Amino acid sequence: MVVRTVKSYANQLPADDDHPYRTGAWRPQLTEYDADDLDVIEGRIPEDLAGSYLRNTENPLLPAIGRYHPFDGDGMLHAIRFADGRASYRNRMIQTRGLADELAAGAPLWAGIIESPAKSLRDGWGARGRMKDASSTDVTVHAGRALTSFYQCGELYAHDPETLEGAGPLPWSAGFGGFGVSAHPKLDETTGELLVFGYGTKPPYFSLGVLDRNGVLVREQPVALPGARLPHDIAFTENFAIIGDFPLFWDPDLLAKGVHRPRWYPQMPTRFGVVPRQGGEPRWFEAAPTYVLHFINAYEDGDTIVVDGYFQTEPMPVPDPADGPWAGLKKLVDVASVGARPHRWRLDLATGKVREERLFDEISEFPSINGRVGGRRHRYAWTMTAKPGWFLFAGLRRLDLETGTVQRFEWPTDVFASETAMAPRIGARAEDDGYAITFVSDIRRDVSECHVFDARDIAAGPIARIALPERISSGTHACWMPA
Ligand SMILES: [Fe+2]
Repeated sequence: MVVRTVKSYANQLPADDDHPYRTGAWRPQLTEYDADDLDVIEGRIPEDLAGSYLRNTENPLLPAIGRYHPFDGDGMLHAIRFADGRASYRNRMIQTRGLADELAAGAPLWAGIIESPAKSLRDGWGARGRMKDASSTDVTVHAGRALTSFYQCGELYAHDPETLEGAGPLPWSAGFGGFGVSAHPKLDETTGELLVFGYGTKPPYFSLGVLDRNGVLVREQPVALPGARLPHDIAFTENFAIIGDFPLFWDPDLLAKGVHRPRWYPQMPTRFGVVPRQGGEPRWFEAAPTYVLHFINAYEDGDTIVVDGYFQTEPMPVPDPADGPWAGLKKLVDVASVGARPHRWRLDLATGKVREERLFDEISEFPSINGRVGGRRHRYAWTMTAKPGWFLFAGLRRLDLETGTVQRFEWPTDVFASETAMAPRIGARAEDDGYAITFVSDIRRDVSECHVFDARDIAAGPIARIALPERISSGTHACWMPA
C-alpha cells in the first residue's frame, strides 16, 4: 500500500468522551488519505470489478451544542476504487459551510436534532431550521458528480467522485422548494434522471424535483401534504415517484409553539402519493399505519404499482430506563426496537386499493439493489442486520424476493460493516451477477478493511479482504459508481 497523508484535523471532542456514538466503532477519523495499491489480506480482487464504492460518514470534529445525536456529525466521504484487480482509497471531510464556520469559531455553533433549535447560536439549515447542514447522511453519483446530502434537508454538496475533491454546494439546492434537498435523491440508471425531494414545516410541506442526465434541475413540483411531515426516502417507477405521508410527525400543537417533538399517531393511516414523473397531480392510497425509513425499490406491474420497503411495527419505541443516560437515543437508532421488516405494498391504480404483506420475518434495514433495476421489476436486495440495541451493522443478508429465501453472513464480534452496495460485474446480464461491497471496522484489532463478496453467495464470506490505511468510523449510506 502506498499511502499519502493529505491533511489531519484536530480533535475538538471532549478528551474523556464517553458518548456511545463518538467512541468505539463510531470514533471519528481525523486524517485524510490518498492510498494506492491497497494490500489484499485475503482472497483476490476480481478483474471484472470496475468502479467505486463510496460511503458517507457522520464523523464529528466538534461536539454539537447540548446533547449529541449520531446523525449530527460532520460528513466524511470515503471511496475505494477498483480497476484491473487493484484498489485505491481516498477519504475527505465534506467541506460544508457549517463545518467551515465552526472550525473558524473553534467551537460548535449549532444544536443537533435532539436539542431545541433555539439553542443554536445562529440560523442554519434543516427542515425544522437552525441546524448545521452536515451533508453526512447519503451519497449518490449523478452526472459525473458525487452528491452528498443531509437527512434534515440542506444543500447538495458536489465532489469529484474519484479524487473526492469538493466542488461546493449546487447553487439551486439551498432554496429547493423553500426547504433544501433531503437525503436519498433517487437515480434512475435507465434514463439518467435524478429525483430529489425536500420537506419542511411550511405549506406545501413537500417538493419533488427532477434533474436531467446532465445534472440540470428541469422540474420542481410542490406536493401538498396535510401538515409538516418527516419523510426520509422516496421510491420511483418508470413513470411515477412514490412519496410517503406517514403518521409519525412533529406534534402540530407543539410545533406551533416552536417545539419539535415527533409523535406517533397509530389511529391515522399511512398514505402513499403516486406522482407522475412528468408532472401532474398525485393520487393518494391508504395503507396500514407505519413509518418507512427506507424503500427497497418500486416498479409497475400492469395497473399495479409494487412498492417494497421496510415496515416498522413500532415506529416510536418507548425508552428503557435500564439503558441509562443514552436510553432515548438507543431505541431511536435501533432497527430491532422499531421492528423494521421487508414489506410489499401493491397500489392498484384501477381500484385505488392497497394490498400489503410482510415479505420476511427477520428484522433488517439499509437495503441495496442492483441500481440497473431501479424503478423496474427487481428480485434481489442486499441488506443489513444490526447489533441489538445499536446502530451498528453486524450481518449481511441477500433477500430473494421471488422465492422468499435468505442468504446470511455474520461478521465476528466487534466487527461492524457499512451499508453494502451491489456492484454488477463487467458484462453482467443477470440481476445478481456481481459483487457486494462494504467497509468494516474491527474494534479489537483497531483496523478497517473493505470486504468484497460474490453477490450470489454472500454466505461463503468475502472473496477479498482489502486493508484501509486507518480504522474508519461507522456511518450511514453508501453507493456504487460503475467505472
Ligand atoms: Fe437514510
